[in-house]
Amino acid sequence: EPKETSVSGEKATNITWHAGQISRSDRERNLGQRGATGWLTGLSGSGKSTVAVAVEAELVKRGKLAYVLDGDNVRHGLNKNLGFSPEDRTENIRRIGEVSRLFTDCGVLVFTSFISPYRADRDQVRALFASGDFIEVYVAADVATCESRDPKGLYKKARAGQIPEFTGISAPYEEPLKPELLLETGKQTLDIAGLLKIKGS
Ligand code: ADX
Repeated sequence: EPKETSVSGEKATNITWHAGQISRSDRERNLGQRGATGWLTGLSGSGKSTVAVAVEAELVKRGKLAYVLDGDNVRHGLNKNLGFSPEDRTENIRRIGEVSRLFTDCGVLVFTSFISPYRADRDQVRALFASGDFIEVYVAADVATCESRDPKGLYKKARAGQIPEFTGISAPYEEPLKPELLLETGKQTLDIAGLLKIKGS
């Protein structure tokens, strides 16, 4: 049964939780793994998606079920009605938090790749999970580094005033205070297998 959370503008009434016959551990037994969500947060261009996609590939290669939820992709579908105001980002993260929880309950290893710039929004997501099921990963690179990479040319546009409320330029990014994992992608090259604590080649 889900934990109670307060959402502004909540409209659903007269609804009853319906439990299934199968538990999460039944599914996890079939899959031979435990579900969890790795929540990657960081600036645009910090390397979140690159890391998420590489970890997903490594895990699937090793017979695990892993799945990436990526900001740009989810905004093509589920969250296409949301923009980049603080309120819309909050709703974006809230929905993805709920989707991640569902996937985790399925037994999937989920990797989310969203800027998720607000600490309070990330903490709301964390509160949806049992401890140990949610791993906050700070993909850290400073604005200058991300701007020098500028893989999508968005920093250039933002500097030219063509993108309002661009994170790191004209909108805030609140760093995690106690992430479970810190990846300093500006300073180190990443060894994905090492990240997964896998020995050998
Ligand atoms: S979040 O802030 O709500 O978590 P999300 O991760 O879904 O953002 O989307 C960020 C992506 O949207 C960026 O990588 C970039 O490609 C694009 N984008 C477009 N406009 C903005 C903006 N104003 N600020 C940040 N990213 C933007």
